[in-house]
Amino acid sequence: MPAIKFYDHEPIPMEMHKVKIVQQLTLLPADQRLQKMKEAGFNTFQLHNGDIFMDMLTDSGVNAMSDKQLAGMMTPDDAYAGSESFYRMQDKLEEIFGIKNCLPAHQGRACENILATRFVKPGNCVIMNYHFTTAKAHITRLGGHVEELVKDEGLVSHSDLPFKGDIDIDKLEACIAKEGADNVSFMRIESGTNLIGGQPVSLKSFREACAVAKKHGIISVLDASLLQDNLYFNKIREEECKDMTIREITREIADQFDIIYFSARKFGFARGGAILVRDDDLFHSMEDLVPMFEGFLTYGGMSVREIEAMTVGFDESMEMDVISQGPQFIDYTVKRLDEYGVPVITPGGGLGAHVDATEFVSHIPSEEYPAGALTCAFYLCGGIRGMERGTLSEERNPDGSERIASMELVRLALPRRVFTLSQVEYVIDRVKWVFDHRHLIGGLRFVHEPATLRFFTGRLEATSDWPEKLVEAFKADFGEDQ
Ligand SMILES: Cc1ncc(COP(=O)(O)O)c(C=O)c1O
Repeated sequence: MPAIKFYDHEPIPMEMHKVKIVQQLTLLPADQRLQKMKEAGFNTFQLHNGDIFMDMLTDSGVNAMSDKQLAGMMTPDDAYAGSESFYRMQDKLEEIFGIKNCLPAHQGRACENILATRFVKPGNCVIMNYHFTTAKAHITRLGGHVEELVKDEGLVSHSDLPFKGDIDIDKLEACIAKEGADNVSFMRIESGTNLIGGQPVSLKSFREACAVAKKHGIISVLDASLLQDNLYFNKIREEECKDMTIREITREIADQFDIIYFSARKFGFARGGAILVRDDDLFHSMEDLVPMFEGFLTYGGMSVREIEAMTVGFDESMEMDVISQGPQFIDYTVKRLDEYGVPVITPGGGLGAHVDATEFVSHIPSEEYPAGALTCAFYLCGGIRGMERGTLSEERNPDGSERIASMELVRLALPRRVFTLSQVEYVIDRVKWVFDHRHLIGGLRFVHEPATLRFFTGRLEATSDWPEKLVEAFKADFGEDQ
């Protein structure tokens, strides 16, 4: 982590890299953004990237790559079977996590498909600290259900709890007693909980939860997609980790688990995924699923170029100067917004800054998707594309009623090494403006609602002419061309 001091003010987040390749951005005027939002069915997933100024939808596959990663992509070994690029990746993963058996897959949800297909039977339970959309969809598709056992305090939006992703050990024991250990397919812990604000998990909690799983003969699975952010927080917030290297913390976490999987669109700053399986028999029992769903066992649907980039990215994820940049930018954003009174998830976590829509637009009923509406407002008033992480991202209950999310968030992701601090300042400024005009924001309703993962492809409309009124107010303050 950079120990860079300033002469006349407190330290600010510092980029420990320089920009070598750039992509030009455009800022459409507000009237055009309103038109684009309507064409996108008030769903930020449906916007075209060329119509966006600050793309803060996700960190997935859009982290900046390093010169070393690009250099690696120039020397891959292209082969359907037995690619040396795959073996280099496998060796690197074994060096870092201590597990040899590696099943490649084209991204994180493909790993989730393989795990669910192998382990989930109708009626089974999968225990999690908190669910992720695609992880849950694969489990429910196969007739299983998910139990979320994060500590109650983890769901309190404004707090100073350092590890809000920790599983509640009493709830874990009670859940296993209720479900019966034989009915639990596996326990999945997400290191850096995506849907509750990128909040990290402590090493202590990993250890305790896995010990309980082991005692009951339950397979433990680590979703390491957001591990790089988690490692930063272990290092700076957990006493036990203060004197450990990032590699030592990683190994200590990994040693607790039977299986580790990740999306390399996040962990590794590239595009791909893999499952690491400690036990040889378990590994062999899953192998056939890779050629069936992904591709041969030495590429798993990935390009060999990406495999080379991932391999370099894993090494970079072990460097504090690299993994500290995202969380520091997030912390800065969260603190500036919090000071102004904007409701945000505190403390800042990984992945992005998370705005609490339940409070921000408390006048919008949950059934009208407050976080979805607020996400649209950020685009209308700044060309900023965030992602709804609330009720709209849930699936309906079997009786058709809405499943109201326990947190109603707008995620403003900070893909790693991508944005500068002046761009972050712009976002903070526009969010403050929207906060001061929040009474103008209204709700949304579906006009096309898919049954599964509706947030990706669903289309909505505004429940009134609030988008027009919001844009008029924005233009009155900023002019026609902003
Ligand atoms: C924690 C976590 N697990 C799994 C996934 C799925 O990965 P992918 O998008 O590569 O399918 C994501 C994606 O955002 C994630 O954040």
